[in-house]
Amino acid sequence: MSKSVSFQKPMFIVSALTILAVAAVAWFSLHPSAALAGRENGGTVSARLGGVEGIRTFLDKKAVPAILADPELAPFFAVLTETPGDIEDCLARLLDHDLGGLSAKAGTATETGHICRSSMSNVHRGLAITDRAFDRFVEVVGREALAAGVAPADVQEIAHKLESYRGSIVRQ
Ligand code: HEM
Repeated sequence: MSKSVSFQKPMFIVSALTILAVAAVAWFSLHPSAALAGRENGGTVSARLGGVEGIRTFLDKKAVPAILADPELAPFFAVLTETPGDIEDCLARLLDHDLGGLSAKAGTATETGHICRSSMSNVHRGLAITDRAFDRFVEVVGREALAAGVAPADVQEIAHKLESYRGSIVRQ
C-alpha cells in the first residue's frame, strides 16, 4: 500500500509539471510580443509610449506641431540643415534609447540616408538656444504628452531625460 502511494505522488508531480510546461510554451508561442516585451523592454517608459514608433508618432502629430506653433520656439526651426522627418526620426530614437527602449542612441541611418548625430552640442551649435527657450521646449513637450494621456510620472521621466541635455544644447 505504502509502495503504491510513494510511486503515484512523483508521477502526479511529473505530469503536472509537463502540463504546465506545455501550457507555458503554448502561451508564449501565441503571445510572442508579450514574451519579448517582458524580456527586453516591458515596463519601461518607452514601452508605455509604444516604443520608438509611438514616440515618433507623438513627435510628428503632437510635439512638433506644438513647437512650431509656439512663437518663442518656432524661429529656431526656421533654417534647418536636415529634413524635419530626419529630426523626428533621430529624436525619437534618442528618446526611445534614453527611456529604456531598444534603439541605438545615435549613428543609425534614416530613410533619407541621414546619420543620426551623437553630439548634441554639434547639432545645436550656432542656434543660440537660451535657457528660457529650453525651458519652454520641455514645457511644451510635457504639456502635449499629458494631453495625449501619458501618465504624469512618465511625463516627469521624459522631462528629466530632456533636462540632462541642457548643458550641451543651451548657448552652443
Ligand atoms: C531638450 C532636449 C533636446 C534634445 C534631446 C534634442 C535633440 C535633437 C536631435 C536628436 C536632433 C536631430 C539630430 C540629428 O540630426 O542627428 C535635433 C535637431 C534640432 N534641434 Fe534639438 N533637441 C533638444 C532641444 C532643442 C531645443 C530647445 C531647440 C530649440 C529651441 C532645438 C532645436 C533643434 C533644431 C533647430 C534642430 C535641427 C538642426 C539642423 O537642422 O541642423 N532642440 N535636436
